[in-house]
Amino acid sequence: MSKPYRIGILGCGGIATSHAANLSKHPQAELVAFCDVETKRTARFNQEFAAGRAAEFTDHIQMFDKAGLDIVWICLPPFAHDGQLEAAARRGIHVFIEKPISLDMKRAESMTAAVEKGKVRSLVGFMNRFGGAIERFKSEMDSGRAGKPGVMQVRYFCNSLHAPWWREKTRSGGQIVEQIIHSYDLTRHLFGPIKSVYTYATNQFHKNVERYTSEDISASVIIFKSGAVATVTGCNGAIPGQWINDYRVVTERFTAEFVNSNNAVIHDTRDHSNVEKLVIESKRDLFRWESDDLFAAIEKKRDTRCPLHDAAKTQRLVLAAGESAEKGRPVELNI
Ligand SMILES: NC(=O)c1ccc[n+]([C@@H]2O[C@H](COP(=O)([O-])OP(=O)(O)OC[C@H]3O[C@@H](n4cnc5c(N)ncnc54)[C@H](O)[C@@H]3O)[C@@H](O)[C@H]2O)c1
Repeated sequence: MSKPYRIGILGCGGIATSHAANLSKHPQAELVAFCDVETKRTARFNQEFAAGRAAEFTDHIQMFDKAGLDIVWICLPPFAHDGQLEAAARRGIHVFIEKPISLDMKRAESMTAAVEKGKVRSLVGFMNRFGGAIERFKSEMDSGRAGKPGVMQVRYFCNSLHAPWWREKTRSGGQIVEQIIHSYDLTRHLFGPIKSVYTYATNQFHKNVERYTSEDISASVIIFKSGAVATVTGCNGAIPGQWINDYRVVTERFTAEFVNSNNAVIHDTRDHSNVEKLVIESKRDLFRWESDDLFAAIEKKRDTRCPLHDAAKTQRLVLAAGESAEKGRPVELNI
C-alpha cells in the first residue's frame, strides 16, 4: 500500500466528528491537522482522533501552507464558505466538502472553477448516493433495466431546533437548502436532468421562536426533462427526536420503497401475475464509502461519485426551489 493520505479537517463540529471517527481508523488516512476558529474544538479533535500528534490551526491558510496536506475535509457551516475550498484547490490539495457547498451560485461556480483549474479531485457529501439500495437502483436506471422513470415521492420529517445558525435562513439557507438538499439530490441522481421546480414553503410552527427564519414546512414538484415527476415534502414539526427520510420510486418496470438509502424493497412489476420482490438490506457505513471513493478517485485519476460540478447542479435546484417559493410560480431550469 502507498503511504496514507495526509488529511486536515477544517471545521471541527458535529458532522466533522463522524468523518474524523472514520478517518482515524482508515488504513489509507492519517489525520495530521485540525482547523477551527475555536481552539478548544481543535484540541478535542486532536486528542480524540490523532492521539495529540496532529497540528492545530485557527487559520485555514496556515494549515494549507504548513501541514503538507494531500486532502482537506471541509465541514464548515453554510454561511462560513468564503474561499477556503478555492485556496485549497489552488495549492493542489484535494477536497471533500459537506453539503450545502454555498448559499449562492456565485460561490458554487467559483468552487467548481477552482477544482478544475487546480486539477484536484472533489467529493461533495451527498452520502446517500453511496447507500446500498440507492446504488443498486441507480444501476438499474443507468442500464435501462428499470425502463422509463415515472414518479418519485420523498418525505423528510423531523422536529428539532438544531443549532442557532441552522434556524436563520440567511446563515443556513433554510431547511430545504441545508437539510432536505440530500433528498433533492437523490431525485437528480436517479431521474436525471431537470426542467423545472415549483415550491411552496413557509414558517408555520416557529414564528415565535427567536431568530427562527427558516421555512418549516415545504413541498416541491420537480419536473424532469424525461417527463417524469418528483415531489419532495419537508417538515420540521413532526415527531421530536426522529429524522424520517424515506422515498418511493416508480419506473416503467420497478416500484421501489426505500426506508433509507441502504434499505429498500424493489418490486418487479413487469409480470402482473408474478410481481417479484427484491429486498435490499445494507449496513454500509456511508462515511467510509465516501472516503474510499475519494481515495480511489485520486489514485485512478477519475471523478468521484459526486464531484463539485455535479453537486453545483443540486445547489442550483434547491436555490431555485427557494426562488419559486418566494415568487409563487415555477422556476425553469436547465440542469
Ligand atoms: N451529511 C450530513 O448528513 C450532514 C449532517 C450534519 C451536517 N452536515 C453539514 O456539515 C456542515 C457543518 O455542519 P455541523 O452540523 O457540523 O456544524 P457545527 O456548527 O456543529 O460545526 C461547524 C464548525 O465549524 C467551525 N467554524 C465556523 N466558521 C469557521 C471558519 N470560518 N473557520 C474555521 N472553522 C469555522 C465552528 O466553530 C464549528 O466547530 C453543514 O454544511 C451541514 O449542512 C451534513
